[in-house]
This record gives sequence, structure tokens and C-alpha cells, in this order.
Amino acid sequence: MSELFENQVAVITGAGGVLCSEIALKMAELGAKVVLVGRTEEKLQKVASGILAAGGTCMVRTVDVTNEEAMNRLADEVLKVWGPCRYLINGAGGNNNKAITTNFTYEPEELEMNKPGDMVGFFDLDLEVFESVIKTNTLGTVIPVRAFAKQMAKEGRGSILNFASMNSTRPLTRVPAYAMSKAAVVNFTQWLATYLAPAGIRVNAVAPGFFVNDRSRKILYTPEGGLSKRGENIMSHTPMGRFGDPKELLGSVLWLLDDEKAGFVTGTTVAVDGGFLAHSGI
Ligand SMILES: NC(=O)c1ccc[n+]([C@@H]2O[C@H](COP(=O)([O-])OP(=O)(O)OC[C@H]3O[C@@H](n4cnc5c(N)ncnc54)[C@H](OP(=O)(O)O)[C@@H]3O)[C@@H](O)[C@H]2O)c1
Repeated sequence: MSELFENQVAVITGAGGVLCSEIALKMAELGAKVVLVGRTEEKLQKVASGILAAGGTCMVRTVDVTNEEAMNRLADEVLKVWGPCRYLINGAGGNNNKAITTNFTYEPEELEMNKPGDMVGFFDLDLEVFESVIKTNTLGTVIPVRAFAKQMAKEGRGSILNFASMNSTRPLTRVPAYAMSKAAVVNFTQWLATYLAPAGIRVNAVAPGFFVNDRSRKILYTPEGGLSKRGENIMSHTPMGRFGDPKELLGSVLWLLDDEKAGFVTGTTVAVDGGFLAHSGI
């Protein structure tokens, strides 16, 4: 147990996912009362079972992070049942396979009527899907902050952790919507840290490198279980030569949330990426 986390309310969006499920389990182990938020109840219940089996406290709520009304209702409920939110982890997010180009760069063929059927260039991307990726990663961070940081401000303390990406500073090929939306998360983290500093609230972010999740598994591996071409490409750009283990995020996450150890740290983004951003690619 830790005094900083014991009996404190921690709201975690994307809690059914690969990274935030580990964070939720750890926060509960440290004594926090954890609100598990996502859209798919089954994934959240699985995490909840782990927490409850270990003697922790949690509640499961299926809320879409882009739905402000529903998020506000959840904030009211949490306040009533458990008291004010002390920690907010904005982990919900991700990409959509329909917002990915097949081309790495522009190819003249993409403008032709008889281009290959499986070719998806930047000009072919469906703008609605493009927008939904941006919305999930950007407003999906803003909306929980608006709902829960009010409670923190009234208490004069709190810590918010956003999820950026290596895409925030170095956009990967083929994923323009995801990359620009994660750049916005870093920018918003800095803006919000400045805005909320007088309220006693710190705001930081982590920028994970490559951690395999259900969506990326199909992109990073072949059906036979070997690395795909993209997977190999990533390895050759990752000095540590491997994907991250979700547990390897915990140190940075807990440090950034900790009002003692990181009490003077706000507006920063910590890369946890096996050196990906440090490597020039040459
Ligand atoms: N894994 C990586 O390599 C990596 C790298 C850089 C950054 N990140 C970022 O780290 C965060 C966690 O990633 P992850 O790998 O753990 O992904 P994940 O396993 O796909 O988990 C993300 C979770 O977010 C939830 N979610 C998505 N849209 C939502 C919405 N509109 N409302 C509520 N919940 C929503 C999803 O659950 P439902 O679909 O059930 O709602 C999912 O469980 C994401 O923001 C991701 O972009 C990941």
C-alpha cells in the first residue's frame, strides 16, 4: 500500500486495454479505488476480476470518452459514491485500420482511375474515419479532463496522465490521423499543465513506443507468428531490439502520478520506447 494512492479515486479510461489494464491492476494493488472506463464491458470485467481477486476495489463503467454528457454523469456518480477523483489516466485511444494508407509515400498511380484495387493513398482516405480517430485521441482526452479535473480543482490537488505516442514527435508512415492526434495530446498536455497549475493539478504524458496490442498484433506479426515486414522495420529502428512489456510502463506512470516524487514535474512527456525516438534510423 502507498499513502499517496491508498483510498484515492483513480479514473482510468481505456482500462480494458493492454497498457491500462496493467496500470489499473497496479493502482488497485497500491490501494486506489479504481474506476475502469471503456466501451466493451467484457474487457473491463476481466480486469475487474483480477483486481477483486487480489483484494482491490474497483467499479466498471462503459462510457465512450467522446460522449461528454455520459462522462459528466459518470463524474457525478463517482463523486457521490467514492468522493473526488485524485488521479485521471487518459488511456483510451488508438487508430482505425481504415485510417491507414497502404502507400508509404505518394505514388503517381494513386491518382489514376485504374489504380490497383488494394491501393489506399492519402487522397483515398475516408474523412469521416480520419476525423473519428482524431476525435477519440484528442476530445477523448479533453472530455474526461473537463469532467474530473473540476473535482480535483475543488480539492486543490490531483494528477492527470495522458497517452501520447512516439508518433507525437516523429510521425510514422501510413498513419496520418493517428500521428497528428497524438501530437495534439503532447501540445494539450503542456497547455493544460499551464492552465491547471494554479489549481494544484499536475498534467503529464507518457509516449509509449511499440507495445503489442490486439490491433497491432495483426500488423506486427505474420499469421505464422514471425515478424511482418513492418514489424522487422520497427525492430531495426528500436535500439533495444524488442517490443515493450506493458509492465515496463509502470515505473514512469507511477512516478509521474506521484505528488511527492514528481511534485515539481508538470507539462512533460516521458518516452518509454526502447530508444526508438533516440535513433536517427541511419
Ligand atoms: N500499444 C502501443 O504500442 C502504443 C504506442 C503508443 C501509444 N499508445 C497509446 O496508449 C493507449 C493505450 O493503448 P493500448 O495499446 O493499451 O491499446 P488497446 O489495448 O487497444 O486499449 C485501448 C483501449 O481504449 C478503449 N477505447 C478506445 N476508444 C474508446 C472510446 N471512444 N471510449 C472509451 N474507450 C475507448 C478500448 O476499449 P473499447 O474499444 O472497448 O472501448 C481499448 O480497450 C492508447 O491511447 C494508445 O493510442 C499505444
